[in-house]
Formats: sequence, structure tokens, C-alpha cells
Amino acid sequence: MASTDIYHEMIIDYSRNPANFGSLDDPDVTHHDSNPLCGDSLDMDLKFDGDTLSEIKFRGKGCAICMACSSVLTEIAKGKPIGEVRAIQKGDLLAELGLEHLQAVRIKCALLSLKILKFALYKHIAASHPDAESLKEEAAGLY
Ligand code: FES
Repeated sequence: MASTDIYHEMIIDYSRNPANFGSLDDPDVTHHDSNPLCGDSLDMDLKFDGDTLSEIKFRGKGCAICMACSSVLTEIAKGKPIGEVRAIQKGDLLAELGLEHLQAVRIKCALLSLKILKFALYKHIAASHPDAESLKEEAAGLY
């Protein structure tokens, strides 16, 4: 099977059975955002154990690309130190599903979850880290 077919199957599978879908009891941070073009919207809950993102879940409505990217992102981020989660770039996420050449009109579908995660991280660390403003700017400038 060609790699593009494999990526396509992964996107369909994740959209039918998203990973880490749902909500957390007593999350440390929750963040919500939506794609104004289509009205799709997501919420994300994060829970930390010290400096580790111990649990992450998302819920809401999105297209197949949105659900697949949200699933992959939560799988990448879960259990990682905050510094590594913070370092996840849009190219890392797009490459996981072969979406590096996604049309500009679909980029928001693919990156909505990353934007939410970065804003949620910002909320969590803003109080104790004076350089948190750069994370907020990075999230705001994703697309
Ligand atoms: Fe709404 Fe993709 S069409 S997130």
C-alpha cells in the first residue's frame, strides 16, 4: 500500500475512533477554541503531575483531519515533560499524518488542536514563568 493510502486510512480510523476523546475529572486546565469557517469546536483538558503532562483529553466536533490531528497530538503529548510538549511544532504534527502539503484552507482543521494545546499550556505556566508570553504569541500565530 502506498504511504499516502496508509495516511488516508489513519485519518479515517482516527476520525471514527479518536484517541484520548472525552473529558478528565478535575483537570488542571481546560481550553476551548473553534474554527470560525466551519463552526467546528474543541475543548481540551490537561492534567499535570509536577512538570509532566500526565493526562490529556479532547472533545467536541471536527472534520476527519481535525479529529485525526487531535488524536495524534494527544498521543504525542501525553506523558511528556512540559518542555517537550511546548516544543511540538506544527510540522511535527502534520508529518505524523502525511499532511505536510495540506491546502491552506484545511490548515486550520489540522492545527486547531495544537493551537488549543499551546494556549492551555500558556494558561498553566503563565503564572510561574516570566517568558510565557512567547508561547501565547506562538499559539496566536499558528494560522
Ligand atoms: Fe471544520 Fe475541518 S472542516 S475543522
